[in-house]
Amino acid sequence: VIEKSLRPHLLKEYIGQDKIKTELQVYIKAAKQREEAMDHVLLFGPPGLGKTTLAFVIANELGVNIRTTAGPAIEKSGDLLSVLSELQAGDVLFIDEIHRLPRAVEETLYSAMEDFYVDIIVGQGPTAHPVHFPLPPFTLIGATTRAGLLSAPLRDRFGILASLNYYEYKDLQEIVQRSADVLQTHITPEAAMEVALRARGTPRVANRLLKRVRDFAEVSDQEVIDETLAAKALTQLRVDRSGLDQVDRRLLKMMIDLYDGGPVGLNTIAVNIGEDVETVETMYEPFLLQNGFLKRTSRGRMVTPKAYQHLGLAMPEQK
Ligand code: ADE
Repeated sequence: VIEKSLRPHLLKEYIGQDKIKTELQVYIKAAKQREEAMDHVLLFGPPGLGKTTLAFVIANELGVNIRTTAGPAIEKSGDLLSVLSELQAGDVLFIDEIHRLPRAVEETLYSAMEDFYVDIIVGQGPTAHPVHFPLPPFTLIGATTRAGLLSAPLRDRFGILASLNYYEYKDLQEIVQRSADVLQTHITPEAAMEVALRARGTPRVANRLLKRVRDFAEVSDQEVIDETLAAKALTQLRVDRSGLDQVDRRLLKMMIDLYDGGPVGLNTIAVNIGEDVETVETMYEPFLLQNGFLKRTSRGRMVTPKAYQHLGLAMPEQK
């Protein structure tokens, strides 16, 4: 059995991120009216907020094909050309983690984006010569966790910049209800909110929690997921009411136990909790910063009084 996709297909099914949707609505309509490829789009924001989903929605709304790849998967300019050569006029190319494109590939991309051609060196040594490949007009949709990770020349070649933010609870509640419908399971609005509250602003997390809560409901023969069941299941999953999971709490507690709450450098944090720096920087830290459990200082990250309180720990005197 193929799991039904929880991803929406149309802009009107895509919940939240209203500012981006309103703008995209206009650009999509204009591109269609002119029968041109839409301008290139850069989507940025933390993981799990629906950047890939949005790229599929845009292509679907434009009525074109979408090809997807990721920065680390394109090692050479030739790899980029083979992806580009499969595009038809107006198609979307989605490059996830576009900040991880090798330098030479990034430079090849400039002319592709700007004037729809690439010049590639073919052959080696004395027979090496550039070959000019014209391309059909296409729309590049790039995704990255932070716009600052991109070089200025690449960033400047995107006509449309869209920053995705953590979702509001009511939007996540709506996403959970919608996903429950797709999964053909029943959940009360209160239980959906209970899931939303613990989803750290992220639809991917909300949908994952919903699936686990559904497992609890099924094994306990409960037809409808209600607030009590949801709360119990989520507590067993060790996700607390502020949405912090075990790793978040371990991170904060480690900073308190080993470094008196900081300041601590990012590398030190990553090593001590056994995660890589990029994961800490893109997945854990933004949420903890946004919610006031951590703060950034010139000397490193510091645990806030709110974090001490949340963990039920006493603040050291002089802090
Ligand atoms: N699933 C994941 N993200 C979504 C969103 N923004 N709207 C609806 N369903 C989603």
